[in-house]
Amino acid sequence: MIDIEKYIRDIPDFPKKGVTFKDITPLLSHPEAMETCAQELLRLTESEKINKVVGIESRGFFFATLLAQGLAAGFVPIRKPGKLPYATLKQPYTLEYGMDALEIHEDAIQKGDRVLLHDDVLATGGTAQAACRLIEQLGGEIVQCNFLIELEFLKGAQKLRNYEIRSLLTY
Ligand code: PRP
Ligand code: MG
Repeated sequence: MIDIEKYIRDIPDFPKKGVTFKDITPLLSHPEAMETCAQELLRLTESEKINKVVGIESRGFFFATLLAQGLAAGFVPIRKPGKLPYATLKQPYTLEYGMDALEIHEDAIQKGDRVLLHDDVLATGGTAQAACRLIEQLGGEIVQCNFLIELEFLKGAQKLRNYEIRSLLTY
């Protein structure tokens, strides 16, 4: 069995001094590690009925499409502002310094859809919280939020306490 943790490397002082960045590109470039990671993320969903997988631009896209395939569900992208071509809903969120926003196509989720939200990293939780708001405004039911990596010390789970959260690796 492949230990996926071995394929995630620490980059000190990126993107700024004092931050250690978890770089998943070695994992992405290794086919068996990718396969194992996708299987393990799928296993976290515990055969729940899910018909849409929502992935958050950009690093959430890598595994969200694989999860959608594995669950025979549709894939829905949540993107940074101005990237989606059709009518969108927009949700601002707070970053450590300043604000950003996320958008979703307004017809991407139907009322009653059972949704898995996926992103690569749960850090402060602002990104995932904004994504959850978009999904719920469209009437989606969030069955689970799953992450490859949870940085527990940043307490993102507190912002997502109304949801089931699962992570493959915690630091
Ligand atoms: C990173 C990461 C998560 C988010 C987590 O994305 O991929 O999406 O931050 O942070 P939070 O829990 O504190 O909100 P980033 O915004 O750096 O963009 P990227 O995925 O396009 O690299
Ligand atoms: Mg991201």
